[in-house]
Amino acid sequence: MSDDQVQVIDARLLSKHYGRYTAVDAVDVKIRRGEFWGLLGPNGAGKTTFLRMITGAIAPSSGSLRVLEYPVPAQARPMRRRIGVVPQLDNLDPDFSVIENLRTYAGYFGLSGPDLDTHIEGLLEFAALESKRDARISALSGGMQRRLSLVRALVNQPDLLILDEPTTGLDPQARQLMWQRLRELKSKGITVVLTTHYMEEAQRLCDRITIMDHGRLLDSASPSELIKRHIEPHVVEVYGDDAEAWHLGVGAGLADRSEQVGETWLYYALDEEPLVDALKASHGISYLHRPANLEDVFVKLTGRELREA
Ligand SMILES: Nc1ncnc2c1ncn2[C@@H]1O[C@H](COP(=O)(O)OP(=O)(O)OP(=O)(O)O)[C@@H](O)[C@H]1O
Ligand SMILES: [Mg+2]
Repeated sequence: MSDDQVQVIDARLLSKHYGRYTAVDAVDVKIRRGEFWGLLGPNGAGKTTFLRMITGAIAPSSGSLRVLEYPVPAQARPMRRRIGVVPQLDNLDPDFSVIENLRTYAGYFGLSGPDLDTHIEGLLEFAALESKRDARISALSGGMQRRLSLVRALVNQPDLLILDEPTTGLDPQARQLMWQRLRELKSKGITVVLTTHYMEEAQRLCDRITIMDHGRLLDSASPSELIKRHIEPHVVEVYGDDAEAWHLGVGAGLADRSEQVGETWLYYALDEEPLVDALKASHGISYLHRPANLEDVFVKLTGRELREA
């Protein structure tokens, strides 16, 4: 097998049941070396449960799983030495400083000495945390804690990095820095698995995206292919007081598909011209013409109702 055909993750019919509840339902996933894979799904879809099986934190109820060619959970211990994990909730040690957190974590892998010191300096720089090396965790902002969690996961120079919502709660600047860092890791050939609720993030970073709901995989492709497969290329959003009257009088007949979401009408079209021309002629109507995006796909496949409400 050539290098890029090696499966870093090979899950077959992987399931996890909690009593009678099925959190992950007979999932097949294959991730190639060097791939940047995104797992998307509404709250409670089963993303974290799936990732926790991959990292050996919980045992599957059924199915088979190989990670970096180790059978898991049977050989989860040696596998874990070669992966880095950023869990959904930070689990940094609050009693330790930044550098102590990195050193302690390195200790779990038996790492110490001058090589480790040099590596840790590089990680502090990578995380833009050099000036915080002696700060306690409680003195760090949320963005700094997230960046520290990322570099802590790099202490053992992993081949596979698993990131569960690494940018949730970050401001736009902190998120952009995280994206930059993740791209740098990808360019070094690390295989990355990411979950996120930010569609733009997934669209920008991922080579391939899988959408999951109710424990099942709904579809899987590159971001552009997913959009092409499920959504007309043009989306026109019409909103404001006159939107409904415009829809009933004009809009409904001009789109391939339309739907109402709150006070906005969404029109999906192969050819946007008739819609946009009509809107330009209807003075005072508020509208936005944009290309179809991953959020359109996500909502089409998983529905609009709120989860776990
Ligand atoms: N230990 C557990 N015991 C019982 N049910 C659980 C357990 N862990 C997860 N679940 C349930 O399994 C389902 C999937 O949870 P999971 O955390 O995997 O979802 P998620 O896709 O990561 O959601 P989010 O986007 O909110 O993080 C949820 O309904 C959750 O309540
Ligand atoms: Mg989760």
